[in-house]
Amino acid sequence: MYENILYEVKDHVGYLTINRPKALNALCTAVLEEIDDCLDTKIAPDNDVHVVVVTGAGRAFVAGADISEMQTKPVLEGHDYTELGHKVMDKIDNSPKVFIAAVNGFALGGGCELSMACDIRIASEKALFGQPEVGLGITPGFGGTQRLPRLVGKGMAKYMILAAKNVKADEALRIGLVQQVVPAEELMPTVEKLAKSIAAKAPIAVQQSKMAINNGMNTDLRTGCRLEIEGFQQCFASEDRVEGMSAFVEKRDPVFQNK
Ligand code: CAA
Repeated sequence: MYENILYEVKDHVGYLTINRPKALNALCTAVLEEIDDCLDTKIAPDNDVHVVVVTGAGRAFVAGADISEMQTKPVLEGHDYTELGHKVMDKIDNSPKVFIAAVNGFALGGGCELSMACDIRIASEKALFGQPEVGLGITPGFGGTQRLPRLVGKGMAKYMILAAKNVKADEALRIGLVQQVVPAEELMPTVEKLAKSIAAKAPIAVQQSKMAINNGMNTDLRTGCRLEIEGFQQCFASEDRVEGMSAFVEKRDPVFQNK
């Protein structure tokens, strides 16, 4: 049904693969629109899927926004393009589901931004991260100027963006851009295990934690702590809280119902 992406569900985990390997999975308008549609029509309504893995087919995760397409765009369409990219990144970031980026190779420009819209980044040793846009005469356009400093701090973000300095996987781990680096052949098994471990937790607790972190990062500590209190209470009122605590006391594994 889609021409540029693949989406499948295995064991309650969604796998979204950007599948345009000839262009190193560059995010042309069609790719962005397909991701957007998949988020709206397949991922959001699926109550059985709580975790989604995002990866790229072939040797790249995503080598950026599509430069060839941008080159021919009239000036006014630049705005639509950056708005579309932001819309997609925001949907991932604000989704109640957990998104894990399995970064298999180049994650440049819009690719680095796509990985940063996800909640957790696991990288292959072959991954390369960067925001090379200033070399093309543009700023990052899918959230890089905002999400990168929030993840790695202002100084490192400026180093990477203003000087267009790419960082390899080990450096990305050191600066906190990725959470784990593994050999290429271990990437998908590692991510799959992580995804299943998150999917086995109480969905409401995972969702409320994600929202408290996301929304709390955009406010002051006191307001953020109020958000946590609200999220905690919502969990406390859930059947899954009763199940989780009963299972602990009864020394058995919990079976969460997402209620
Ligand atoms: N857009 C369009 N096509 C791209 C692309 C991109 N971002 N990145 C790679 N491709 C295409 C190449 O044009 C090439 O196509 P052809 O075979 O038809 O010539 C194909 O993918 C393979 O690429 P290379 O031959 O260049 O492969 P390489 O191994 O020599 O180099 C690379 C790999 C270093 C990633 C190099 O392709 C590259 O520098 N790509 C561009 C990276 C970049 O600048 N990304 C930022 C884009 S701007 C952006 O993302 C803005 C934003 O925030 C919204």
